[in-house]
Amino acid sequence: MGRAPLFAQLVANTDNGFYRQDIISVRQFDREKLAYVFGLAEEMRHMVQQVGSADLLHGRVLANLFYEPSTRTSSSFMAAMQRLGGCVIPINEVRYSSVTKGESLVDTVRTLECYADVIVLRHPEAGSAQIAADCATKPIINAGDGTGEHPTQALLDLFTIQRELGRIEGLTVAMVGDLKYGRTVHSLTRLLSHFGGRLQFVSPEVLRMPAELLREAREQGMEATEHQDVAEVIGEADVLYVTRVQRERFEDQALYDKVKDCYVITPELLERAKPRMTVMHPLPRVGEISYDVDKDPRAAYFRQMENGMYIRMALLAAVLGRA
Ligand code: NCD
Repeated sequence: MGRAPLFAQLVANTDNGFYRQDIISVRQFDREKLAYVFGLAEEMRHMVQQVGSADLLHGRVLANLFYEPSTRTSSSFMAAMQRLGGCVIPINEVRYSSVTKGESLVDTVRTLECYADVIVLRHPEAGSAQIAADCATKPIINAGDGTGEHPTQALLDLFTIQRELGRIEGLTVAMVGDLKYGRTVHSLTRLLSHFGGRLQFVSPEVLRMPAELLREAREQGMEATEHQDVAEVIGEADVLYVTRVQRERFEDQALYDKVKDCYVITPELLERAKPRMTVMHPLPRVGEISYDVDKDPRAAYFRQMENGMYIRMALLAAVLGRA
C-alpha cells in the first residue's frame, strides 16, 4: 500500500522524458533520469512481490526482435511486459522469420511496428539500433547492438550496485575479461562516469577497453587504470564486474582459444577481497566464475539478473506511459 499514487501518476504520465522515446544508448541518461528509472524499478519490485502483476500496459504489444542468442534479456523483457498486462510478439529465432528470405532490418522493423507499440531489438552490428530507430515511428529499445552498447543491461548493473552497496558515488569498480568486445562494460563505463570514483580495467592485452572509452571516462573525471592481473586489483575493488570472452566476435578462433580461460574467479581469490565487495556478471558465464563462488554472499549475479526484470518493467512503463 502507499504505492498506488505512484502508479496512478505513471498511468497519466506522458511527460516523463521517456514517453515514445527510443532507448539506444546510455548517453541518453543523466543522474536525474537514472534516479527516475531506479525509483520506478523499486516500485515494480514491490508490486511483483506483493501481487505479481498489474494491468498498467493492458492492450499494449511489444515486439521482441532478436537476431542474436539471448536468454536473460529476451525472457526478462517478455516477463516484464506480461507482468504489466501487455503482450509480446517473440521473434527470438529470426531464422524462422522472413529475415531468412533476405528481408532487411529496416523492412522487418517497419513490419513489426505495424503490429506493436514498442520494439526491443538485439542485433550483431554496432549502430543497428540507431538505424532501426531512424526508420521506425514506434520506440526502439536497444537490447545489445554488436560490440556497441547494451543500455538496459548497464541500467540494471548500476541499479544492482546501488542496491548491493547502498551507493554508487566514488566506488572502485574493477571490470575483468573481454573489455574490447563486451558491450555491457562499454555501457557501464559510460554510466559510472556520472558518479566519480575509480575504474580498474583488467584484460589480456588483445582485449583491452577501447581507447576512446578510456579517454571519455578520464575526461569525465574518472581515475582509470589498466591491468592484466586480477590479483593486482582485487583487494581494492568495491565491485568486481566479470565478463565472458565474446567468442562470436573473434575472427581468429586460435586467438580466442588462447585468451578464453584468462581469468577464473575462485573462492581462494575472493579471500583477498573486501568483505563488502560485490561480484557481478551479466551472464552467461562460461568458466570465468567458479560455481563455488555462488554461495559467497558477495556473489550478486543472480540478484542482478532479477533486477533486470524490474528495470525493464520500469522502462516499458515509462516509454509506453498511458495518456
Ligand atoms: C550479455 C550480452 O548479450 O552482451 N548478456 C546479457 O545480455 N545478459 C553478455 C554476454 O553475452 O556475454
